[in-house]
Amino acid sequence: MLVFKTKSLLINYLKSFLDLNKPVGFVPTMGALHDGHLALIKNSSKNNKLTVVSIFVNPTQFNNLEDLEKYPRTLEKDIEKIKNICSNCIIFAPSVDDIYEGKTCAASIEFDGIEFEMEGKHRPGHFDGVGTIVKKLFEIVKPTNAYFGEKDFQQLQIVKKLILKNKIAVTVVGCPIYREKSGLAMSSRNERLSIESKESAAVIYKTLQIAKEKFGTKSAQEVSLWVINSLNKNKDLKLEYFEIADENTLKTCVRKAKNKKYRAFIAVYIENIRLIDNISLNN
Ligand code: PAJ
Repeated sequence: MLVFKTKSLLINYLKSFLDLNKPVGFVPTMGALHDGHLALIKNSSKNNKLTVVSIFVNPTQFNNLEDLEKYPRTLEKDIEKIKNICSNCIIFAPSVDDIYEGKTCAASIEFDGIEFEMEGKHRPGHFDGVGTIVKKLFEIVKPTNAYFGEKDFQQLQIVKKLILKNKIAVTVVGCPIYREKSGLAMSSRNERLSIESKESAAVIYKTLQIAKEKFGTKSAQEVSLWVINSLNKNKDLKLEYFEIADENTLKTCVRKAKNKKYRAFIAVYIENIRLIDNISLNN
C-alpha cells in the first residue's frame, strides 16, 4: 500500500493517471476509520481506476481545541484497514505544514447561507475550515469522483456548493449513513464513548425514527417540540439542537410543502462528546 506523506510526491504519482484520463476516486477523511468510511472507500474503489484516501486531521475546522487534541489518530491501523479492502487504493497522509505551509488558517467562504444553519450556528467557522481543506485537497488530487457521507449531510451540501462556485470539475457522490447494530451512526468520536454511553446514544436514532413517523401526520413544529421535550427528560445526554429543514437550502421547515424534501437533523452531547445524526423524512 503506497502512503504519500507530501503533496509533491502524490502529485507526481498521479500525473500518469490524470494524463491518461483514467478515473480517479477520492475519499477525504480524518482517519480513525470505521465501517462508514470503509463503505465510501469500497464504493470509490469499485467505480474508479485508482482511489486516493486522504487521512488528515484538519485543524482549521475545529472550533474547540480540546476536540482537536483528543481526536483519535490511528494511522497504522487505518492503513491496515484500507489494505484489507482495497487493492487499487493509495493513501495521502500529509502533515499540517505540508498542507498549510506555515499559514494554518481557513479562508472565509460563502455558501449561500447554508454555512449559517445548524452546524454553522453551533460551530462558528467550521465550514470555512471544511471548505478550505476540501478545496486544497481537490486541487492536489484532481479527482474525477469524490465520495462524502450523508452522516455529515450539511457538509455534503457545502461541498456541492464549493464545487459549483469554484467550477471544480468533480462529481460528488453522496453515500448513505452506516450505523452500529443499535442504530447509532458510526463516527470516529464514538471511540471516546464508554460502553454505557454508547448504549444511551442509541436513543438518538430511535428518536429520529419516531420523529419521521410523526412527521407523516404532524407539523414540523409539533414534531420538534416532542423531540425537544422527550430528550430534555433524558439525563444521559444534552440536546444541542433538533431541526427539521429543507434538504437543499437547510432552512427550517415552517410549513410543509409537497414538492420539497425534508430531513431531521440533531446534535447532542454525551459525556461531553458531540454526536450528530440525521434522517430523511420523505422516504
Ligand atoms: P470524517 O469525519 O473522517 O469523515 C470522512 C467521510 O466519511 C465524510 O464524508 C463523512 O460524512 C463520512 N462518514 C463518517 N461517518 C459516516 C457514517 N457513519 N456513514 C457514512 N459515511 C460516514 O468529514 C470529515 O472527516 C472531514 O470534514 C473532511 C471532509 C475529511 C474534511 O476535513
